[in-house]
Amino acid sequence: MILSGKSRIAGVLGWPVSHSRSPRLQNHWLERYEIDGAYIPLPVRPESFASAVTTLASLGFCGANVTVPHKEAALRVCDEVTSSARRIGAVNTLFFEEGRILGDNTDAYGFIQNLFEGCSQWQATAGPAVVLGAGGAARALCVALLDAGAPEIRLVNRTKERADRLADSLRQNGDGAQLEIGVWGDWDKVCADANLLVNATSLGMTGQPALGIDLSALPTTALVNDIVYTPLETELLATARQRGNRVVDGLGMLLHQAVPGFSRWFGQTPDVDEDLRRFVLEA
Ligand code: ATR
Repeated sequence: MILSGKSRIAGVLGWPVSHSRSPRLQNHWLERYEIDGAYIPLPVRPESFASAVTTLASLGFCGANVTVPHKEAALRVCDEVTSSARRIGAVNTLFFEEGRILGDNTDAYGFIQNLFEGCSQWQATAGPAVVLGAGGAARALCVALLDAGAPEIRLVNRTKERADRLADSLRQNGDGAQLEIGVWGDWDKVCADANLLVNATSLGMTGQPALGIDLSALPTTALVNDIVYTPLETELLATARQRGNRVVDGLGMLLHQAVPGFSRWFGQTPDVDEDLRRFVLEA
């Protein structure tokens, strides 16, 4: 790709940023759709984040993704944020338009799209959803499930106080009348009647211990999802699959959350397909 003054440029801000798969993903789409543009990794220290964002906007970038550790700080540099970003308390996608900085959070969208793509018959409204974890990822999932109409969300975290804090914070935003706090380890009660079980902890990731929870009380009709995607088939998904549950891996969430940014920066809605999954995993 030969860049010119007309090329549209976006990037990803993180510290460090070398692990991010976003440049590979976004540049693959740029090539596939023959778009005159580029997407570059932007390593930025936390203390320089706000000035880096305003500089990118003044340099004519069309936008950026934001990753660890800047997602909460990004909320504060925006002139305007979407309701998803406000409720999740973090921004992962920036748009620089007409001198303004707009912030969105596409994690909730990516999560739900991945579930529907992986299992089109699944309905959020059909029963309780169990969310394991209480970090930023769990928060985005709760917002997504509330919006999708889950009648109850059971939030379960090793450190219960953190789950309590997350539930309180969601309720302060007007969300979460349906939130219940479950006890980590009390798996029979946590899993009973569940329609979805999703791991939003870092357990099961390569180099981390497995989640290792007892699924015997989980209905076999429940959908099981892991937001971990390295490895693609975590022990949780393998165990769930063996006992007859439908399972969806976490890679699709990464791919789908990238769609709204690409669409608005470059004017083309990109496809998420098997080729893309393979290409992103090869890295
Ligand atoms: P993120 O923002 O990506 O969600 P995070 O804020 O670091 O990441 O949250 C990591 C989650 O994994 C937390 O829910 C954490 O549980 P605690 O709040 O109890 O720390 C969970 N987690 C990490 N290691 C764990 C372990 N060994 N056992 C149980 N949960 C673990």
